[in-house]
Amino acid sequence: MISPHVILQMRQKTVAGNWKMNLDYQEGLALFSEVINRVKAEVTGIQQVIICCPFIHLHALVQLAQGFEKTAVGAQNIHQSESGAHTGEVSAKMVRSVGAAYVIVGHSERRQEFGEGNVLLAEKIDIALKNNLKPIFCMGETIKEREAGKHFDVISQQLTESVFHLNEAQIDKLILAYEPVWSIGTGITASTEQAQEMHFFIRNQIAAEYGQAAADRISILYGGSVNPENAADIFAKPDIDGGLIGGASLKSRDFVAIVNVFNRS
Ligand code: 13P
Repeated sequence: MISPHVILQMRQKTVAGNWKMNLDYQEGLALFSEVINRVKAEVTGIQQVIICCPFIHLHALVQLAQGFEKTAVGAQNIHQSESGAHTGEVSAKMVRSVGAAYVIVGHSERRQEFGEGNVLLAEKIDIALKNNLKPIFCMGETIKEREAGKHFDVISQQLTESVFHLNEAQIDKLILAYEPVWSIGTGITASTEQAQEMHFFIRNQIAAEYGQAAADRISILYGGSVNPENAADIFAKPDIDGGLIGGASLKSRDFVAIVNVFNRS
């Protein structure tokens, strides 16, 4: 019988950067080199670092990260189809073919700007898994939904419609991210209690669907205005396994300071 404490230790601690639509090719390579050098020099824990960059950086970043297991590279989106007449789109197979390991699915900016809904996102998760990419699936409620007291319903629906068709082997390949929309890029983080409460809720939903062991294994990241000052308090909560970092991932010092929060825990 494994104690809950040991299970907690087994859960992968992860800090993922989401560069969004920032940095040209040269700037991206320079930042990534800085991040790798800092991680090599400063990070002593076993936490996983993932950088989700624009498509144009993917191949070069994978090359730079080669042989350094602590840092992996991911895309920020994929098309839901295998291939075909989808001008301007990029497939999961293409992303995987350059050696990227992850892909963000369901970021609120894509839900809002491009109308991506839960059913479409289920298709994106499926095509990612089929091509050996691990999805980082984002969920979150708007401020209106929170004020109306609907935040748990919204998250539950996002999970049910996009994730719960997966089998147990597949759910193990997912990383979940809770990013309240009102907290992204605003400087307002959810309180640590609000974040923990939602992460606990998400883990319980996973437990109800796939059993407690699967729920204990899955990493749930928090995203929304995380910075070096607030990361330690947020990551100290028992159901928060790391962060998905936007703005602060664009500065190597800040980003690696956030990664290093786990060195102290
Ligand atoms: P910020 O850290 O800039 O609030 O962005 C969070 C985010 O959207 C990560 O995916």
